[in-house]
Amino acid sequence: MSLFPQRVFSGVQPTGNLHLGNYLGAISRFVALQQTHDCIYCVVDLHAITVPQKPSELVANIREVTAAFIACGVDPKSHIIFNQSQVAEHAELAWIFNCVARMGWLNRMTQFKEKAGKDRENASVGLYAYPTLMAADILVYRATHVPVGEDQKQHLELARDIAQKFNNDFSESIATAGYGEAFFPLPEPLIQGPATRVMSLRDGSKKMSKSDPSDNSRINLSDDADTIAQKVRRAKTDPDVLPSETPGLAGRPEADNLVGIYAALAEGSKADVLREFGGANFSSFKGALVDLAVAKLGPIGADMRRLQADPGYIDTVLREGSVRARAIAAQNMKAVKEVIGFIS
Ligand code: TRP
Repeated sequence: MSLFPQRVFSGVQPTGNLHLGNYLGAISRFVALQQTHDCIYCVVDLHAITVPQKPSELVANIREVTAAFIACGVDPKSHIIFNQSQVAEHAELAWIFNCVARMGWLNRMTQFKEKAGKDRENASVGLYAYPTLMAADILVYRATHVPVGEDQKQHLELARDIAQKFNNDFSESIATAGYGEAFFPLPEPLIQGPATRVMSLRDGSKKMSKSDPSDNSRINLSDDADTIAQKVRRAKTDPDVLPSETPGLAGRPEADNLVGIYAALAEGSKADVLREFGGANFSSFKGALVDLAVAKLGPIGADMRRLQADPGYIDTVLREGSVRARAIAAQNMKAVKEVIGFIS
């Protein structure tokens, strides 16, 4: 797919309580990719309403994700930050993709089955069609690379299937319109491996989650230094000292998680961490982790709080980002319409 210029697209849902897992698993990756790619980062508010949202919370959560992008180091001038609902082409292309994707493909999506649960009859049509909108998000920019977590791999494969079927179904018309053999690239997932999966601070076998009722189970990106320190010190551990090599973490999920968090924040490996802290007890290791976490996350939290205190600024970033995103999306949408046989 070298025919297509490289472009990164990814989206984050505005569902509140952004935490360390979102940072290490996604946003820090988005920041790094800015060095090598043109990047478009989207607050996917249209995806959020596939389940009920309170309007006053939704608007705050859209601003929270935007603030987090900026506070973590995404540059809204060199790259693009915007919210999905301001660029109508996402929904427009999603409709077309609803007519490309097959029922059988969507019926296989495990996330829908999980989210809809037992009461599938009562799930929104939007929740079912969610993956076609996600495909549209990516392909309306003809993006080539998509940083996502493991849980989104199946949706990315569906996006590739949609791109491929569109390219095949309309191959003649694509060629006639002068787009060569393929209109859409087959977007590649950049999967963040399990190494940076962050688990709950209260239970090393559960993922750190926005919906865990215990706030002590997660480090929120908006937490201040004292709160971060307190949560790390209260994190569940076991009675042993740290091992000096990684196999010694087996069967010790809480120890493994804290070492993993340290490694990710220090941008090193678990082996590096254990080389330094093997034999240490948890109270001294936690002291070092507090220092590191506060040094890395303290400024992010402070920046987020500062940005969130100025919603006018955040809204301006989103509006300006939307204008630039729309310019790309509109051009591609015009081509899609021509290829399909619409008049515009
Ligand atoms: N479904 C993704 C998630 O829940 C969010 C998302 C929506 C996305 N559209 C996207 C991610 C496009 C990557 C590309 O995490």
